[in-house]
Amino acid sequence: MTIQQMQDEILRIKKEKDICILAHAYQNHEICEIADYVGDSFGLAVNASKDSKKNVLMCGVRFMAETVKIISPEKNVILVSPDAGCPMADQIKPEDLAELKKQYPDYTTVCYINTTAELKTYCDACVTSSAAINIVSKLPNDKILFVPDPHLGSWVAEKLPEKQFAFFEEGGCPTHFRLTAADVKKAKEAHPNALLLVHPECRKEIVDQADYVGSTTGIMDYAKKSDNKEFIIGTENSIVSHLQLACPDKQFYALSKMCVCMNMRLTTLGDVYAAVKGLAGEEITLPEETIIKAKKCIDVMLELG
Ligand code: 13P
Ligand code: SF4
Repeated sequence: MTIQQMQDEILRIKKEKDICILAHAYQNHEICEIADYVGDSFGLAVNASKDSKKNVLMCGVRFMAETVKIISPEKNVILVSPDAGCPMADQIKPEDLAELKKQYPDYTTVCYINTTAELKTYCDACVTSSAAINIVSKLPNDKILFVPDPHLGSWVAEKLPEKQFAFFEEGGCPTHFRLTAADVKKAKEAHPNALLLVHPECRKEIVDQADYVGSTTGIMDYAKKSDNKEFIIGTENSIVSHLQLACPDKQFYALSKMCVCMNMRLTTLGDVYAAVKGLAGEEITLPEETIIKAKKCIDVMLELG
């Protein structure tokens, strides 16, 4: 079977079975082509809340599928690759958060969407990279406990100097953490005319040197609209390929070959084909109490974001 034939079959079966396919922007091109929606974590959550199809296939990582289930508990939500987790989402346990809350009792707890459903039940508001500044700025409390990513958190804190922040210092994305200031120096020397576009999960020393900082979709939109012809991309390297395909007249360079998220790479078009046929994937189930409690902080995100 060719790729084209497999894609055609997926499209036929998904229509027949009333399936919505959601793909995170880090998924490969073949998957993005057959998805109903491709985008960043915020876009996936918003589209999940609006789409009426009763079955959802998530091509991404576990917290993204859990978020869809929390937003729409009546839907049958399938994570196409059950092993696709997000190491950052698993870094902070409820007991770590309880300890932090003891240290910062009068702080509002804000969690990055890259957290487990269980952790969200202990938080007041959820944010994504694209909506974090907007959401946190609208929270009435000026004291914010931000978990688990201190890099994203510090970037938000810098934009909102009127607020006071506390962080979970051990957190962070292992993929973006591989990017260093030395990579920036090397890439800028090799491509002096290129703009540096990075994800806020990168360390501060990289974010501080960037021409644009934003979510995966934000980076793509910026590059597409820009008059500049060359860009160094500081996020998962799938974005470099997507942009090169979308803008053949421009040049895109990876900040480092090391910026690859193995969890996001797990899902293949073959897995999606097997999942639409009901032969692969894991149905996401969550305790009713978890859904009710976690939904409160996700609702804050959807309302304020
Ligand atoms: P976005 O919300 O920017 O898509 O980020 C999700 C993610 O996991 C980045 O590593
Ligand atoms: Fe998680 Fe980082 Fe992979 Fe995003 S890139 S899914 S934050 S490990």
